Amino acid sequence: MRELKILAVVVALTLITYWGVEPFAHSQMHPHVDAPNYDFAQADKMISAENVEKAKVALDKAKKADDKKAIKSATTDLTNAENFEKDTNAFWATTKESIADKGNVANGEVLVTSNCTACHSIESKGFPKVMDDASSAAAYGVVPPDLGTAGKLYTKEYLAGFIMNPARASKVTHKFVDGRVHPMPGFDWMQPQEIADMVAYLQSIAPKAMTDKEVFNNACQRCHSIKYGDMKGGTMQAYTPNENIKAYMGKIPPDLSQYIKSRGPNYIHEFVNDPQKHLEGTAMPRVGLTLESEKQVVGYLEEVGDSKKAQREELGPKFLIYLVIFAIFAWLWKSKQWREMH
Ligand code: HEC
Ligand code: HEC
Repeated sequence: MRELKILAVVVALTLITYWGVEPFAHSQMHPHVDAPNYDFAQADKMISAENVEKAKVALDKAKKADDKKAIKSATTDLTNAENFEKDTNAFWATTKESIADKGNVANGEVLVTSNCTACHSIESKGFPKVMDDASSAAAYGVVPPDLGTAGKLYTKEYLAGFIMNPARASKVTHKFVDGRVHPMPGFDWMQPQEIADMVAYLQSIAPKAMTDKEVFNNACQRCHSIKYGDMKGGTMQAYTPNENIKAYMGKIPPDLSQYIKSRGPNYIHEFVNDPQKHLEGTAMPRVGLTLESEKQVVGYLEEVGDSKKAQREELGPKFLIYLVIFAIFAWLWKSKQWREMH
């Protein structure tokens, strides 16, 4: 009986540690981050409204403390937050207009092939790269992606938003100040109907299905390499040479081969969906992937960085069954020993 009591105490302590202490420590070390949201307009509106609220609270606090310097800086912060909220709402309102319009594919084709192919290839439609990767990286800081798959990778709303204002849609406006401009010009001078037409065209030429690797090639490889994966097919170098991407982004984007191990799939989902939520001020743009494309990218990172995962997960239950059987035998053996001694 004593053994059973000891066992009960051990089990209770283990469960308390597992469900009580660990999640608590985790929540303290990693502040809560909202779940990934693929409605980018709604996500941006919520965050900019929250920032206005935070700035108001900070100003109230400074006023209560009667700290003149703090009041002054908190007032500036509040004005900035309010302006940012106003711009964000105006931006998504025009984007909404354009995605509400039904796009005309034929007109979209004319617009895309006359406005975009000076920088972007569309290989599947016979528009080759204008320059080799090294030259376009030198010209723009980063190799512009082929547009043949954009209609599949990105949400319709994000695509419309990005074409109108790339820095705002990808949440890197903080990097393009003091005369620095995004390498892709915004097309917000066009009519919402024209944006809708281009989006409709891009969606019409996109493949119905892509492999996980193709999603990575198209959405991430212009910046990131995969050099140390468990892949059979060798390594993949980022399309943009290091010196150009460093000049453009301020740092070299990390090699993603092993990120799935150090960060885990949930973190990668949250980070790609909105990098700023995790690393405020980060150079990594939001890429605007649909939930499906994002799952494919994470799947690909698992394949190259953690190819033993499926095997491990299969082994887990078998090992537990083994332990249970072993415990029964141990208990039977012990009972037999005691019976013989008494
Ligand atoms: C002057 C060159 C230039 C022109 C013209 C241009 N782009 Fe781009 N575009 C770029 C560059 C450079 C990038 C990569 C930017 C980055 O990764 O920071 C890019 C990125 C993109 C992306 C990827 C978005 C993402 O979040 O990954 C899409 C989609 C796109 N462009 C669509 C278009 C469309 C549609 C047009 C025409 C209406 C167009 N571009 C015109 C240079 C250009
Ligand atoms: C235009 C360039 C660019 C593109 C496209 C891009 N990234 Fe990044 N990424 C960066 C940069 C720069 C950093 C480093 C950010 C920092 O440390 O502030 C980064 C960092 C990361 C990190 C590390 C985050 C951390 O916690 O350290 C992950 C994971 C990541 N990117 C995943 C992706 C995935 C997946 C894609 C494709 C869906 C992608 N990135 C597309 C530029 C890019």
